[in-house]
Amino acid sequence: MKLSIVPLLVASTLLGIVSLVVSADDIATLRNATAIDTQKEPEAIPKVNNDDVRRSRAYPMQPPLIPHKIDNYQVDLNANKCMSCHSRERIEESQAPMVSVTHYMDRDGNFLAEISPRRYFCNQCHVVQHDAKELVSNQFVDMYQLMNQKQQESGNQPAESSD
Ligand code: HEC
Ligand code: HEC
Repeated sequence: MKLSIVPLLVASTLLGIVSLVVSADDIATLRNATAIDTQKEPEAIPKVNNDDVRRSRAYPMQPPLIPHKIDNYQVDLNANKCMSCHSRERIEESQAPMVSVTHYMDRDGNFLAEISPRRYFCNQCHVVQHDAKELVSNQFVDMYQLMNQKQQESGNQPAESSD
């Protein structure tokens, strides 16, 4: 059987039209609409939120956000500054929440005495928050909001919210 080239032609024409419609200005880049041969005026470096108020989590498995500054906190082969406050032995003195028990588990689920190598580099998962507008907007909806919407649509009482 021979392949018809008509659908291919139609598809490539459509692609051509789409790429014409999306102009360079609409593409989200950190340079915005700055021309390629111009040096963009850099934005001011935003401040890190340092209010010590623990944030709620957007979903149960979310690594909690860091509510304090972490400037110059050393995390490398020689030292882990984070663990000087967040390890099991240090939390009484620091009054910081202990890293959760998952952070002491190896990949087979055994509990180790020390922080697991899988959780050593805290900033792989935990981040500070900046006092800044998001670069790319997002439309994330919390699951409680979704549940309430559904329940209101079906005429039931809204779900209990943790907010
Ligand atoms: C000097 C002690 C200290 C150090 C060092 C420290 N923290 Fe904290 N951390 C705290 C305290 C105390 C809190 C509780 C909230 C507050 O007071 O900021 C906290 C809160 C947090 C939370 C929020 C937990 C939650 O359940 O919301 C995260 C995540 C966190 N720290 C991660 C880190 C990471 C990652 C580092 C290293 C880059 C670090 N911390 C270094 C003391 C410390
Ligand atoms: C691979 C990702 C990952 C790494 C690396 C990691 N964490 Fe976490 N962390 C999480 C997740 C996910 C949670 C929430 C679920 C849980 O407790 O396991 C969490 C929870 C926490 C909590 C809150 C505990 C509680 O019970 O409220 C603290 C504090 C914390 N981490 C600190 C740290 C510190 C300090 C380090 C570095 C030594 C670190 N984490 C490394 C993913 C990570």
